[in-house]
Amino acid sequence: MIILGCGYIGQALARRYRQRGEAVIGVVRSAERAAEVEAAGAQALQLDLSCDDLAPLKLAGEQVFHLAPPPNTGDDDPLTAHLIQAFESDGHPRRLVYIGTTGIYGDCAGAWVDEDWPPQPTASRSWRRWDAEQRLRQWSRDTGAELVILRVAGIYACDRLPLARIRSAQPVVKADEAPWSNRIHAEDLVEICIAAMERAPAGAVYNVCDGHPSTMTDYFCQVADAAGLPQPPQIPLAAADGQVSAGMLSYLKESRRLSNQRLLDELEINLRYPTLTQGLAPCFSGSGA
Ligand SMILES: NC(=O)c1ccc[n+]([C@@H]2O[C@H](COP(=O)([O-])OP(=O)(O)OC[C@H]3O[C@@H](n4cnc5c(N)ncnc54)[C@H](OP(=O)(O)O)[C@@H]3O)[C@@H](O)[C@H]2O)c1
Repeated sequence: MIILGCGYIGQALARRYRQRGEAVIGVVRSAERAAEVEAAGAQALQLDLSCDDLAPLKLAGEQVFHLAPPPNTGDDDPLTAHLIQAFESDGHPRRLVYIGTTGIYGDCAGAWVDEDWPPQPTASRSWRRWDAEQRLRQWSRDTGAELVILRVAGIYACDRLPLARIRSAQPVVKADEAPWSNRIHAEDLVEICIAAMERAPAGAVYNVCDGHPSTMTDYFCQVADAAGLPQPPQIPLAAADGQVSAGMLSYLKESRRLSNQRLLDELEINLRYPTLTQGLAPCFSGSGA
């Protein structure tokens, strides 16, 4: 198993495959991340996927997870373009599972959105993800290699909560003005990645979320409550510009409720944490925040 972009989720995946006795190679750029990959029991390979010679990777005929994000600028994903060039010169993987984002749908004015909803990215980061999807789909059509696309919502886990933001009392938008947002627990995401590799039909696309959308405000308030911290102050949406980060502001411009029905039906996934309340329950039991 080869995991390109073997960070938080990639290392959790690597641990699961290692428990099953499978060999795993995890690709990262930095020595720090490479040490984490080794600690997860996988073989680390330090490469810059956006520009290095990828021949040492030996991807031909392999099962590959692609979790490496595009660079932070531009409207396309040169990393994925470079990867596909490497496939062409060094050999094609047998199956590739791509971890993209639900940002490709853009603003859907709070509608319920399934995988057939036409992508309309607005933020640059989402255009880059849409570019990656399209490049990979073209590659799969041209070569017959199997591709599965996972459009992943906001990832959370007990060790991945916005506690610093809550402690610093940064404001959130008033509950009744806040747009819809969607989440998935990291443990469920890892199981979904494995299911996608093992049994998704070639060419499948899935929304990966828990199917219980709420607002970003609800998210911060629920995390604060679970952690025993004061809820963040609430401000009108019209006042958010200048009071919240540019990144948060761009998320506030999009509202959608994502359906995970196809994921549940086709991959027969039983989510361990179908709601945020269930996902947060084990995080603070028996310990302070
Ligand atoms: N955060 C969310 O809520 C969310 C939602 C949907 C989708 N996603 C996406 O899901 C994926 C997995 O998330 P994650 O939390 O596991 O991310 P992560 O911890 O940041 O891991 C990403 C990994 O990719 C590696 N990487 C980045 N650029 C690379 C390059 N040019 N060459 C080689 N390796 C490179 C990084 O290695 P170095 O650190 O060594 O560079 C890092 O190990 C990411 O693509 C993320 O953007 C995230």
